[in-house]
Amino acid sequence: MTTTFFCEYKPGLEGIPATKSSISHVDGNRGILEYRGIRIEELTAKGSFLETAYLLIWGRLPNQEELKGFQKEILYHRRIKYRIRDMMKCFPETGHPMDALQTSAAALGLFYSRRALDDPAYIRKAVVRILAKIPTMVAAFNQMRKGNDPIQPNDELDYASNFLYMLTERVPDPLAARIFDVCLTLHAEHTINASTFSAMVTASTLTDPYAVIASAVGTLAGPLHGGANEEVLVMLEEIGAVENVRSYVEERIANKQKIMGFGHRVYKVKDPRATTLQELAEELFKDTESDRYYEIALELEKVVEGELGAKGIYPNVDFYSGLVYRKLGIPSDLFTPIFAISRVAGWLAHWKEQIGVNRIFRPTQVYTGEHNALYVPMEER
Ligand code: SDX
Repeated sequence: MTTTFFCEYKPGLEGIPATKSSISHVDGNRGILEYRGIRIEELTAKGSFLETAYLLIWGRLPNQEELKGFQKEILYHRRIKYRIRDMMKCFPETGHPMDALQTSAAALGLFYSRRALDDPAYIRKAVVRILAKIPTMVAAFNQMRKGNDPIQPNDELDYASNFLYMLTERVPDPLAARIFDVCLTLHAEHTINASTFSAMVTASTLTDPYAVIASAVGTLAGPLHGGANEEVLVMLEEIGAVENVRSYVEERIANKQKIMGFGHRVYKVKDPRATTLQELAEELFKDTESDRYYEIALELEKVVEGELGAKGIYPNVDFYSGLVYRKLGIPSDLFTPIFAISRVAGWLAHWKEQIGVNRIFRPTQVYTGEHNALYVPMEER
């Protein structure tokens, strides 16, 4: 029997719609990103991360009372069970925090195993638990790998400040907290990227939301996706000085190697999130002496634009974020877990959207193997 294909095979499913969604929109030619129709620049200037998460998940901005209630629920659920902490203590301290996060996120399913996807109260509770506990788990692993007890969440602090507090046991200054909150807002959602697609595929089997988030965390970790923010810092270190930038870029291009933090499947111009992140980096650097890495990054952007701009290769979200986090004193292997803390909002929004109109994902393939091949007995091989 021959199978008929209605569309051409596209590696990486480029340009193939995987769903209908009203959560976010990217105009890759004009460099525009909207969450529920609102420009990202509006949200970063006027809103907060939790307000954005509410918008993404429930489809509209919360009023004052709704936001207060949401913040209160999140605050109440920020602590993690001591059994989860005990489990995390057994993780090797040399393990990557993304692996620790993926394992801990999956472990939540052991504690909250009821699966009632048609019950709005269950959905609300799962959303709140995941948003509340993911930052606590990231910070707890960071303390435990240094041999310290985790720092408990501080009920006096908002979402962004509390995470920075759990990393250091110091209340962050308001500028650092605001900038961190903007970073969370910027990373919260981005249509059908690889990790969100992974979340949707997992969700489509009607499994529990903790499995959905764990699979998305695993997908985000790769260097072609969220893991690129950590790789950018490695690259800036390797380049070492502004005068080395051109030869570095030329060598990478000649060897057909990717330059981390550049290029995007959808954007053919500079990612609008990279523009905002660059502004944040400038805000952080303005009162200090010039930062060597930032200088290298600026030169890199200029040289890559000259070499690859015609191909639509410009900085993406991962290019400037690491510079901001580094300036906030955050270790580089937490950059991708921080991306996950934020992207959880988008994953949960897509989970909720998916289960509302669910059909299991089951694409097809173009088979390239043999038919009726013979089984060769072991002694004849
Ligand atoms: C994120 O999808 C999302 O929305 C993701 C994200 C989100 O918010 O969820 O925006 C977050 O994942 C950002 C991307 C982080 N990754 C990196 O910075 C890694 C470096 N960039 C790439 O490897 C690449 O650009 C991707 C993975 C981002 C996109 O891959 P595509 O769409 O499959 O593009 P491709 O690899 O097929 O490249 C197309 C052409 C090639 O040239 P030709 O062979 O056609 O001549 O562009 C070139 C590539 O060589 N190219 C690059 C390049 N990226 C693409 N050349 C040099 N350096 C690069 N970074």
